[in-house]
Amino acid sequence: MPYPNERPRRLRRTPAMRRLVSETMLEPRQLVLPMFVREGAVEPRPILSMPGVVQHSAETVRKAAVEAVEAGVGGLMLFAVPEHKDAVGTGAAAPDGALNVAIREVVSEVGDATVVMADLCLDEFTDHGHCGLLTPGGTVDNDATLGAYEAMAVAQADAGAHVVAPSGMMDGQVAAVRGALDAAGHHDVAVLAYAAKYASAFYGPFRDAVESSLSGDRRTYQQDPANATEAMREVRLDIEEGADMVMVKPAMSYLDVLARVRDAVDVPVAAYQVSGEYAMVEAAAANGWIDRDHAIMESLTSIRRAGADIVLTYWAVDAARRLSGAG
Ligand code: PBG
Repeated sequence: MPYPNERPRRLRRTPAMRRLVSETMLEPRQLVLPMFVREGAVEPRPILSMPGVVQHSAETVRKAAVEAVEAGVGGLMLFAVPEHKDAVGTGAAAPDGALNVAIREVVSEVGDATVVMADLCLDEFTDHGHCGLLTPGGTVDNDATLGAYEAMAVAQADAGAHVVAPSGMMDGQVAAVRGALDAAGHHDVAVLAYAAKYASAFYGPFRDAVESSLSGDRRTYQQDPANATEAMREVRLDIEEGADMVMVKPAMSYLDVLARVRDAVDVPVAAYQVSGEYAMVEAAAANGWIDRDHAIMESLTSIRRAGADIVLTYWAVDAARRLSGAG
């Protein structure tokens, strides 16, 4: 037998051959666009650490939502930047709170043409910037926070959200949210649990995007980046508590976790390509150090290959257009 007797390069010879044997499919419907709405804004404001991403006004979020639907993205994930914050995050559950208003705006614009999701967490609404309520001693009070999440879930569902996405990493949050939704008659509203969410440096630009008040970190509730087995426990608990879908976050540094989760569960698995992942590629590309479009598609493909059924990405519209040949 002549050496080498195995020649994998035969299947890489032409674009047509590579297309024929490609293993991973990426489609617009699998992408979810996170969007920020700033209460009271009259025009969109750029986010310096996330070039190309803005804090929307009520008017521009409607327009951007329509554009996303036209590009074929699978869903939208809404975040709000409220004008006022307080210790208990009152705006989170108020019907006229920034996020609940934004949900109504977007749902009234796009209806059921896409899936409207809402981030369910207190951090944008609290003046201390933590994802939960604090004890007098300043630690995050798990069980008191659950009540706040319950009220927030019902307010988001009342506003028309198709999916609520608890992201605060409190123990028992999925059961609390599911129970509150059901008690309010919102049996049809689904829960996407940020199940394995790590205390990550890659959320840096997001904290600019929502003008976070946080000083310190979230290591008493978000996971230690060193732990993968613990992620399996978090995911199991969330599914037992009623999660319809689970998420791993961030994506790129946690592809091993994503692959394990995909193998272990029978619900759709999402991955969140977070703000820092976005910013790194944009910054390198702006310097001419990386091919932006190629890096975007490679990163999204790798997240799909690792097992994500759904990918949250700030490039959702950009990538969707490219995938359908319109970009
Ligand atoms: C919490 C939340 C965060 C992100 C999504 N939901 C911030 C955090 O946990 O500190 C980060 C998203 C990103 O970095 O793109 N509301």
